[in-house]
Order: sequence, then C-alpha cells, then structure tokens
Amino acid sequence: MFLRHLSLTDFRNYQTAEVALAPGANLFVGSNGQGKTNLVEAVGYLSTLGSHRVSTDQALIRAGQDSAIVRARLEHDGRELLVELQLNRAAANRAQVNRAAIKPRELPRYISTVLFAPEDLALVRGEPSTRRRFVDALLGAKAPRLLGVFADYDRVLKQRNALLKSARASGLKDAKLSTLELWNERLVELGSEIMAERIAIVAALGPFVREAYQAVAGSDQEPTLEVVLSILADHPEAEDAEVSAPAATDLTREGLADAFRAALEKVARAERERGITLCGPHRDDLLFRLNGLPGKGYASHGELWSFALALKLACAELLRAD
Ligand SMILES: Nc1ncnc2c1ncn2[C@@H]1O[C@H](COP(=O)(O)OP(=O)(O)O)[C@@H](O)[C@H]1O
Ligand SMILES: [Mg+2]
Repeated sequence: MFLRHLSLTDFRNYQTAEVALAPGANLFVGSNGQGKTNLVEAVGYLSTLGSHRVSTDQALIRAGQDSAIVRARLEHDGRELLVELQLNRAAANRAQVNRAAIKPRELPRYISTVLFAPEDLALVRGEPSTRRRFVDALLGAKAPRLLGVFADYDRVLKQRNALLKSARASGLKDAKLSTLELWNERLVELGSEIMAERIAIVAALGPFVREAYQAVAGSDQEPTLEVVLSILADHPEAEDAEVSAPAATDLTREGLADAFRAALEKVARAERERGITLCGPHRDDLLFRLNGLPGKGYASHGELWSFALALKLACAELLRAD
C-alpha cells in the first residue's frame, strides 16, 4: 500500500494542505511548530482512529472550527482508493471510502500504518496499559475483526465490574451470583481469545524485533519480548501482579480458558471485596528483555530508545509480510 496524496482541511494548524507523496521515504523539513508531525498524525489517525499525542479529537480540529477533514488517496495492488474522515467537534465522526459512507471504525481495514514518535519511549518505560494498547493496535491492523473482540471484552468487563460493585454494596445474593457466572463465561471466552492472539503475534514479532534492534543499535543484545499473563500469577489480586506473573509461551486457547477460570475462582473473594475484575487480559503486560535482563529498570536510556524503535520497525515488517 502506498499513500499517494494527503489532503487536510482544518486539521491542527492547517486550514488546507495538499501533500503529494512518492513511494519510498518522504522527508518533511521545516521549523519547529510548522506542522510536520501534524501531517504524520493525520495519516496515523486514519489507520488507528486515534492520535499518538492526545486521547480526544478536540485538539485535532483547527482552533475556532467545528470539523476537520483528513483525506488520503491510496494505491493498493494497483488500485486507487480514496479514504476520508471528518472529525466533528460536536457530532459523531464520519467516514467514506471511494465516496461511499462507511462506519469510521471500518477505516483501519483500508489503511495500515506504523508511527514512531518520541511518545513511544512509553512503550518500554510506561505503564502496562501502553503496552497492551501497542499489541492490540498491531493485532487490529493485522486482523481488524479483533477490534470487535476487544470492544466486546471491554463491554463484558464493564458489566461484570458493575455487578461486582453493586454486589459489594448489597451483599451477593443467589440471583446475582448466577448472573456473575454468566459474565464469567463470556469474559473467559473473549479473554482467552485475546490472550491467545496476543501471545501469537508477540511470538511472530520476535524475530523482526531482533533483526531491527541489530540494525538500529549495531549490536545483538538478544532483545526478547513475552506476554505476561495476570491469570498465571500466584496472587493475581496483588497490585504488582504483572511483575510476579510468569510469562506465557505454549498455552493453547483451551489451556488459557481453563487457567482463566481457575484464576477467577482464586480471586473471587478479593473481587467481591474490591468490586472489580482482578485478572484477565486487561491486567496483562509485555515484558521486554535485553541480554536476559528486563528493559525497564536495567537498560540504558539509549538502549530503551533502540528497543522502542526496533519494536515499531518490527511492526512495519510484520504488517508488510502479509
Ligand atoms: N487544533 C489546533 N489548531 C490550531 N493550531 C494547532 C492546533 N493543534 C496544534 N496546532 C499548532 O500546530 C503546531 C505544531 O505542529 P507540529 O506538527 O507538532 O510541529 P512540527 O513541525 O514541529 O512537528 C503548533 O504551532 C500548534 O500551535
Ligand atoms: Mg514534530
């Protein structure tokens, strides 16, 4: 896939912008604040429906305007594709492909990108949630169907949490207990699929990361990454469960579902006391190592940068390998 042309209207600092692009590397040179990153951000938004800098759309719309438009002309297997997104300050966003309306959440099916920016240092130094978002974004780019699975899991998790919370307030009655069991099965079903997919894609990413790290850093420090599952932790209810949980390597989908059920039983009491779901893919993490040592807390600043960049380069290679 090539991005041939990018058009912006009222996006960030641009009233309008028309940018023609060539296959291969394209370099933008300009002063600080001229809008170089804004161009990259616009393209990234089309493929991820999010910005790498802000969590809401408001800042993306030019100050004083009500809506912004990002339009991209793509070339895919010799065919042209016109992809368009309208960001609205006070209404739902709208999307089009070849001038026909589609749901904005369908956009990532048409365009995939990998963005590397200073914010990505958080991949190695930041919170587990940053790493979960990273791996889920990669999964979504590779298999957009999974975006629906993530959304379903989040919904089940919210409902289960609401039930646990109300049960804590009122004491858990039999009726509620059986509803909880229904949610458990949904949670396990969706959650084990997410865990299995994350484990598979992290394994597939490994060789690309190693190659990219070597290219970036000029040395092979044996970078590795693995999924750390909260359901395998000795004490999943502990705050630092992610740290003590063993890595997951060769669990099957069924094995993961069984382990998830067992973990839910283990934390059942703590969950009723605290009113939240204490284990599952929403509490998992990725662990990066260099020469066998965890990146976080051990690696140098430069090594962490190299790792973050290698991760993103590896993502690009993995997506390209389709
Ligand atoms: N919603 C907005 N409306 C108007 N200007 C904006 C908006 N968001 C960002 N800007 C401006 O865009 C500029 C930053 O653009 P950016 O692409 O990050 O710069 P750089 O070329 O250094 O990468 C800043 O001057 C900022 O004030
Ligand atoms: Mg910039």
